[in-house]
Amino acid sequence: MTNTATNPFALRASRLLKGFRDKGEYKHLQIIDSPMDAEVMIRDASGTPRKVLCFCSNNYLGLANHPEVVEAGIAALKQYGAGTASVRFICGTFAPHIELEERIARFLGVEAAYTFVSCWNATEAIFPTLAEPGDAIISDALNHACIIDSIRLATVIKRGVHKFLYKNNDMAEFEERLREARTAIDDEHAIWVITDGVFSMEGSIANLPTMRSLCDQYGAILCVDDSHGTGVLGTTGRGTHEHQGMTGTDIDLFTGTLGKALGGGAGGYIAGTKDAVDLIVQRARPTLFSNALPVTVACSASKAIEVLDREPQRVATLHDNCTYARKEIRAAGFEVIESPTAICPVIVGETAKAIAMSKRLLELGVYVIGFGYPVVPEGVARLRCQISAAHTHQHIDAMVDALKKL
Ligand SMILES: Cc1ncc(COP(=O)(O)O)c(C=O)c1O
Repeated sequence: MTNTATNPFALRASRLLKGFRDKGEYKHLQIIDSPMDAEVMIRDASGTPRKVLCFCSNNYLGLANHPEVVEAGIAALKQYGAGTASVRFICGTFAPHIELEERIARFLGVEAAYTFVSCWNATEAIFPTLAEPGDAIISDALNHACIIDSIRLATVIKRGVHKFLYKNNDMAEFEERLREARTAIDDEHAIWVITDGVFSMEGSIANLPTMRSLCDQYGAILCVDDSHGTGVLGTTGRGTHEHQGMTGTDIDLFTGTLGKALGGGAGGYIAGTKDAVDLIVQRARPTLFSNALPVTVACSASKAIEVLDREPQRVATLHDNCTYARKEIRAAGFEVIESPTAICPVIVGETAKAIAMSKRLLELGVYVIGFGYPVVPEGVARLRCQISAAHTHQHIDAMVDALKKL
């Protein structure tokens, strides 16, 4: 082992970690000893189990512990074993992978889909694979980190990709960037536009109808990461586009996660035209050089989509809970951004304050996470309350009562 008293990295690591602790920004991993649900068992600081209300999971439809979703995973484990021990194109494709991909494509109303071990991987595959030198990529300033990294990687791997950024949801600035991109590239090259459907730290939604019509006007390709919209928005839970009266084919390329509303296990996907998806299968490094989605997770996710289609009332319950929670949080004197999503961020200011408030909430029996720098900019740290169809109005009342005590 290297000498930690002199090794430059060891010194740097201990200095950085001390800094996080001193500023109250150090993240402790909370251990949970029960399935994810409206109520979970946690271990408190002394290791004693304690039941708390969970308002920080992305388990939007309450499917993470649904008996059929759990059973589908168990059955897959028994039938297929732990996994393929392979990447997809060698010997890593089980029948459930194809069944899940066909189900996702049908669900979104697009030609094809392809799965990855996470949405992070799926999104990171897009631009380094599909963009070419001379293309332009236009991105919302509040896009998720996986989109930012996908664009960064593309500009390193494919030198000569033009990057453009517009202020969150600012459609005038977006059009300005489209105009600049059109001027910067020639007719042989593509303009890619990418946005989150639901902005994960704001709970606000992208203006997809305006983006679609501007993309058509400037000949651009519209990609949407709808990780927090899928299963949540629209009458049937198709996502942000359904909420805004659009169909799946109005979006050129989707990415999404299986690790939130659709079962909550893990996994992500790209969905769109057959050719775009096939290019990903042929050339994307996160699938060529990394294992397939575990088959247990594939089967659980497939079942989750089946349950969602069979029980659209889960989406209606979620919508009712979201409206109720916003109303009650506001009535308690807090400010919440108005939106139809299941993300209700309560802005509190400094990172350390958000962390201290979330600690106090946990003592009061409510599990809500405080987000600060570097996840959100300095000064706008927040408590992010996330609503689920698994919550009852009583759960929401209890969460708001705890907020009031702060
Ligand atoms: C908008 C968005 N995209 C992608 C991801 C990554 O999803 P996954 O956990 O499947 O990698 C997240 C997760 O936080 C997200 O919020």
